[in-house]
Amino acid sequence: MGSEPIVLGIETSCDETGVGIVRGSTLLADTIASSVEEHARFGGVVPEVASRAHLEAIVPTVERACATAGITLRDVDAIAVTAGPGLAGALMVGVASAKGLALSLGVPLYGVNHLASHVAVDIVEHGPLPEPTMALLVSGGHSSLLLVEDVTEQITSLGSTIDDAAGEAFDKVARVLGLPFPGGPHIDRAAREGQVTIDFPRGLTTGRDLERHRFDFSFSGLKTAVTRWVQAREEAGETVPVADVAASFQEAVVDVLTRKAVRACLERGVEHLQIGGGVAANSRLRALAQSRCEDAGIELRVPRPGLCTDNGAMVAALGAELLRRGRTPSVLDLGTDSSMPVTQITG
Ligand code: KG4
Ligand code: ZN
Repeated sequence: MGSEPIVLGIETSCDETGVGIVRGSTLLADTIASSVEEHARFGGVVPEVASRAHLEAIVPTVERACATAGITLRDVDAIAVTAGPGLAGALMVGVASAKGLALSLGVPLYGVNHLASHVAVDIVEHGPLPEPTMALLVSGGHSSLLLVEDVTEQITSLGSTIDDAAGEAFDKVARVLGLPFPGGPHIDRAAREGQVTIDFPRGLTTGRDLERHRFDFSFSGLKTAVTRWVQAREEAGETVPVADVAASFQEAVVDVLTRKAVRACLERGVEHLQIGGGVAANSRLRALAQSRCEDAGIELRVPRPGLCTDNGAMVAALGAELLRRGRTPSVLDLGTDSSMPVTQITG
């Protein structure tokens, strides 16, 4: 074994039971058990179903991660776990398991913020995080623009969604178009066959809205506009051009996300933009962000799609960074906080 410390990270804030193992800043294992299929027929994540699925999956997932990494639990030097934000019952399963492991192994425990972990995961993908970095986090539960001065200590929220999260909008519009849950990947795929033919609204991008919400997002008006557009076609007995609607909706979302993220970088003099969260897997978002960053002289960092969606590696990555920087571990009566603010990086 190498001399760098091994950190095992546990993520259970939503519907993925994720266990990641990192040695130093090298990813050794990233193991996931997802309950997404159990939620599909409800069209969204059901908290009680998620909690029970975590309970069933946690021990086998830890075992699988250790086997993949080629280590035993006795090799682990610290445990990290998502303490919030997320679903209360789901978080509790992860935190209780992490405490049990830390206590029995006699190693430090780090309760960490899920959003900060989405940022930290890029350390195992692309190396040390430049400071400062602007982070755009877009998933089913959050849409935030964060100024990251130190991922273990200093994160400021510049803006967030005032209604639906970006991924939530993808999921709701997919439903309107008759595409399965979770809708993001289906819209992404459908959009590749279509053209941007409809000019859907870009929320909070003009006039007083922009003044008051410079770096905030709003996707609820867009979702309503798409729904009305589709309903009007259906009522007129016309076929709905699913691929074109998907492409036009997707363009509206990624246009606003990239425009605001690049503007935030330029206004704050930040030369690095990182995009994370499930929606960062979107192919059009990645392409548009790349071209707009190039035009603005900003370096773009986007982890591979599997590290953008919820996973255990991101928690292990932040834990490893906390350990490396000598940050104080959490106490063993660490609690969960389902609405943990992003300014609070450890629990
Ligand atoms: O980060 P994540 O796995 O879980 C949350 O914390 O929410 O993100 C899941 C979200 C879902 O809303 C899903 O539709 C969206 O990410 N998503 C995508 C794509 N892949 C996943 N949205 C757009 N395009 C994609 N390719
Ligand atoms: Zn997430």
